[in-house]
Amino acid sequence: MLAYVVSTFVVVLAVWLGFFQKKFKAGGAVDPAWLQRSLKGKTAIVTGANSGIGYETALQLVKQGASVIVASRDVKRATDAVNAINNLTNTTLAEFIHPFDLSSLKSVREFADKVGDRPIDYLINNAGVMFPEWAATEDGFELQYQTNHLAHFLLTKLLLDNVKKVNGRVINVSSFGHNFCRSVDWNDVKGAQAEWTKMVLYGRSKLANVLFTKELAERGIISYSLHPGGVATELARHSGDGLVNFLKTYHQITMMFLKTPWEGAQTTLYAALCDETKVPVGSYLADCDIAGSWNPLVSDKESQRKLWETSEKFVNN
Ligand SMILES: NC(=O)c1ccc[n+]([C@@H]2O[C@H](COP(=O)([O-])OP(=O)(O)OC[C@H]3O[C@@H](n4cnc5c(N)ncnc54)[C@H](OP(=O)(O)O)[C@@H]3O)[C@@H](O)[C@H]2O)c1
Repeated sequence: MLAYVVSTFVVVLAVWLGFFQKKFKAGGAVDPAWLQRSLKGKTAIVTGANSGIGYETALQLVKQGASVIVASRDVKRATDAVNAINNLTNTTLAEFIHPFDLSSLKSVREFADKVGDRPIDYLINNAGVMFPEWAATEDGFELQYQTNHLAHFLLTKLLLDNVKKVNGRVINVSSFGHNFCRSVDWNDVKGAQAEWTKMVLYGRSKLANVLFTKELAERGIISYSLHPGGVATELARHSGDGLVNFLKTYHQITMMFLKTPWEGAQTTLYAALCDETKVPVGSYLADCDIAGSWNPLVSDKESQRKLWETSEKFVNN
């Protein structure tokens, strides 16, 4: 009898938790009216738009009539995404203009050259890697730092006039993981010290996204950073077999706790479509609102300034 009561209780609890989580995990959603607004004549660049959150963001912007440049390193994956978006929307608004590899500053410069002087309404720095084994890029910088921050910093600097021309905005997809880094030497761009674990290196790169956003805002650019939530994407694929196998084995359970990529794209879309007079520029967002908490280093003006200066020095721009 006791076993029956306990097992019934466990089943009911699991079902309840499942429903509760399903509702809760989706987080905030963009006002549906905003998603009906016409973006005809606007242009966006979405980095890493061939998959996950970036793909959903690009698809939605095209649905609303914006032209979207899919900035991706892999020609096949990029072309597949462009074709899928254009087929789904019955348009030709998504385009691939040049391979874009954040682990090569040369590639970033070539891509920016191809963009030329086109006005950019939304520069969405979304691409990223999480917890890969330590590696240096061809430019000599730690891989997560260059991919997630330094190369996006360079892209933004190179396209700043394009953005300014139309009073556009820069959106940096950061992460709750920016909390993993509690002190930082911005000059140590190799991140090779023993205490820099993969997690701390990810945290540092994501902290840089938030600080970079704040400094852009101080310099008069409409900019937001954000945490998209825990989202079921391919992000863990470079993180080692342990995490990947865990996610595969416990897929059904982890799915209960993770947002879909569409749900994960909501805060990026919120950052793109919100009224900048109502949502303070430079804000760190989560669940379509100003985030409830953040790393104390985010409010440190000295870190903000130092990050900008060292980034400029390292990308030579
Ligand atoms: N998923 C989450 O739970 C979560 C949580 C917090 C923050 N985020 C952030 O959300 C952003 C999007 O991630 P996601 O979850 O959508 O993962 P995803 O599906 O793996 O997307 C990441 C994108 O970044 C691209 N990328 C990686 N390295 C690149 C490089 N060197 N050059 C150009 N593109 C590169 C990938 O391209 P390839 O296909 O060529 O690899 C892919 O398109 C990331 O910045 C991530 O840190 C995600």
